[in-house]
Amino acid sequence: MDSFIVTIDGPAGSGKSTIAKMIAKKYNFTYLDTGAMYRMIALYVIRHNIDLENKKEIEEMLKNVKLDIQGNTFYLNGEDVSEAIRTPEVSKIVSPVAAIKEVRVKLVDMQREISFGKRIILDGRDMGTTVFPKADVKIFLIASPEIRAKRRLKEYDEKGIAATYEEVLESIKERDYIDSTRKESPLVKAQDAHEIDSSKLNIDDVLKEISAYIDKKIGE
Ligand code: DC
Repeated sequence: MDSFIVTIDGPAGSGKSTIAKMIAKKYNFTYLDTGAMYRMIALYVIRHNIDLENKKEIEEMLKNVKLDIQGNTFYLNGEDVSEAIRTPEVSKIVSPVAAIKEVRVKLVDMQREISFGKRIILDGRDMGTTVFPKADVKIFLIASPEIRAKRRLKEYDEKGIAATYEEVLESIKERDYIDSTRKESPLVKAQDAHEIDSSKLNIDDVLKEISAYIDKKIGE
């Protein structure tokens, strides 16, 4: 089969990356976590104290950052930051960073370049709307903020990161708000995306539903 693009968009904690990894394994697709790319830029912003209001500083920063992605390992200027990009500190600042036009232009270019000619699944917020409006399969995965907060809290617990349910819920709601109301590529469902609400489904049910949808599209 030639290039085949599957996009999964949806809010923070809807289970996109877990399911995207499972689909990638099942169909032998490449997987690209585009949220991690925005997180790498956010980490750089924190470490270098970049002023998000200063266009010159942003442009300079974008010239200086080199992102290298090897599967699920993420290198920022040569350093493996796969763990460092998952902290609540990065989660807090990543939405305003991802709202900056110049940042999006650079990362969208990279996402298209990485995907060229591949059988690939990408998760993010604007994969099926802006980055790949002609994707072969588009999924929009949602879940209630409360369910998503519980899932995130469990992830933090497993990693030994301290956070309360209220803090995580508030951060998720704040991120939803910024991600879906920003001017540049807001989080919206593509018209032709298949929507799945994972609030009451377990991961195997979601996998089954998406697989059936992909199989149908491959057969068309
Ligand atoms: O999926 P995530 O939580 O790792 O995403 C981190 C942030 O990056 C989130 O606030 C939204 C933003 N993002 C985006 O704007 N566009 C994407 N394609 C992926 C993520």
